[in-house]
Amino acid sequence: MTVTRYVAAIDQGTTSSRCIVFDHSGRIVSVSQKEHEQIFPRAGWVEHDPAEIWSNVREVVGAAIGKADIPKDSIAAVGITNQRETTVVWERATGKPIYNAIVWQDTRTEELCREIAGSQGPDLYRERTGLPLSTYFSGPKIRWILDEVDGARERAERGELCFGTMDTWVLWNATGGPDGGVHVTDVTNASRTLLMDLTTLEWDEAICADIGVPIAMLPEIRSSSEVYGSARPKRGLDGVPIAGILGDQQAATFGQACLSPGEAKNTYGTGNFLLLNTGTSPVQSENGLLTTVCYRLGSADPVYALEGSIAVTGSLVQWLRDNLGLISSAAEVESLARSVDDNGGVYFVPAFSGLFAPRWRPDARGVIAGLTRFHNKGHIARAALEATAYQTREVLEAARADSGVDLTTLKVDGGMVSNELLMQFQADMLDVPVIRPVVSETTALGAAYAAGLAVGFWDDVEDIRSNWAQDKAWQPSMDARKRARLYADWNKAVERTYGWV
Ligand code: G3P
Repeated sequence: MTVTRYVAAIDQGTTSSRCIVFDHSGRIVSVSQKEHEQIFPRAGWVEHDPAEIWSNVREVVGAAIGKADIPKDSIAAVGITNQRETTVVWERATGKPIYNAIVWQDTRTEELCREIAGSQGPDLYRERTGLPLSTYFSGPKIRWILDEVDGARERAERGELCFGTMDTWVLWNATGGPDGGVHVTDVTNASRTLLMDLTTLEWDEAICADIGVPIAMLPEIRSSSEVYGSARPKRGLDGVPIAGILGDQQAATFGQACLSPGEAKNTYGTGNFLLLNTGTSPVQSENGLLTTVCYRLGSADPVYALEGSIAVTGSLVQWLRDNLGLISSAAEVESLARSVDDNGGVYFVPAFSGLFAPRWRPDARGVIAGLTRFHNKGHIARAALEATAYQTREVLEAARADSGVDLTTLKVDGGMVSNELLMQFQADMLDVPVIRPVVSETTALGAAYAAGLAVGFWDDVEDIRSNWAQDKAWQPSMDARKRARLYADWNKAVERTYGWV
């Protein structure tokens, strides 16, 4: 009999799907990654092909296990983490999606959200769900698909269609698809739909009825750490229990060992997501943050978080590469930004999906402000990087105000944390040290921990704490007056983005 020595995590993200194999100390054994197509049918619309994503997931699982060069039966469990809110609706009998996945960044439901909110405004469901009525969340996306695809609503009511966020889509397919696939989500993903009651952790029937989502199509809500089913033969990890699900930002919070109230992390991905653990009771935000479930381990009490979600950070660098051709690789943005001494008074507010936290302005659109003939592409690159740091300051200030916690350091992770210029500017703009862990793949690691805890591979969360180790810290060194001036100018630029839609 082989001893189980590893845990695998599937990270189904906005731009790519990855599989990472971890050992017991939480160190990476192997990684495989594949990007998928970003489909932009119209301005403001963003879609993914769910079949392509499932096929990529299978491929990266096989490749990661191949690279690790370990027997399949040495893997104790698999965890799933995922881009949240992105919405798939498929046929229960065939597994065929009835429409492309509508991605979290997509703004097509703006009008619909206004209509549902009516005279009560966007905070209509905030107390029950922790969320404003925004295009960001799944509920209105489901409603849009049911309204637009012929016969879909009737089929959904008859239970012939399934809804899932990406965790559910991957789990259902991995556990058999039409042949007995498990139709389940976890509390963290469910808390991003606008359809779950934050305290009962059940679908809120009244909100579902209001938004127009039949309960029959919704997955069962379970904890983030328990055995949901096993991977079926020919689907990769044959027979291995799938035992953890966490939305990617909650997974990163878990992987960063933010396990006590007052601990926070900030992930620099396609967007930026700052999560602050607030303990076992939900804290309502007065400053534009979301209240969300952070994790729930089996039958233990759920742990909640306040979240500052920023829609566009890393994807702005992609945009400079793909839409403007200003750089040929994302990494190049740093050298281009270093080609100038400072931003030269240029500010880039990337309100491509409106503005999320803390402003929640669906009417905002992107702006580059302060241009003169003096400026060159270096200034644009610098302004693009700085935008990430200014937006992070906005959500950090909101988190401080909501929680009363004086965040004196910030743990960071995600793709952009290899950008030294950005990390130093971030520390300067926040006036607190910014700390990167040794394992910066905290999202996949968090899902691996959730799965490993469920099967006894790790004993308890103390293992997570003791595995966490610091790699590097950036200390703030900017003069206070300069910091204040830059931030004031940023705020002026943000004002210019309002009212475009
Ligand atoms: O809420 C959206 C978030 O989960 C997406 O994360 O890392 O795929 O950009 P990421």
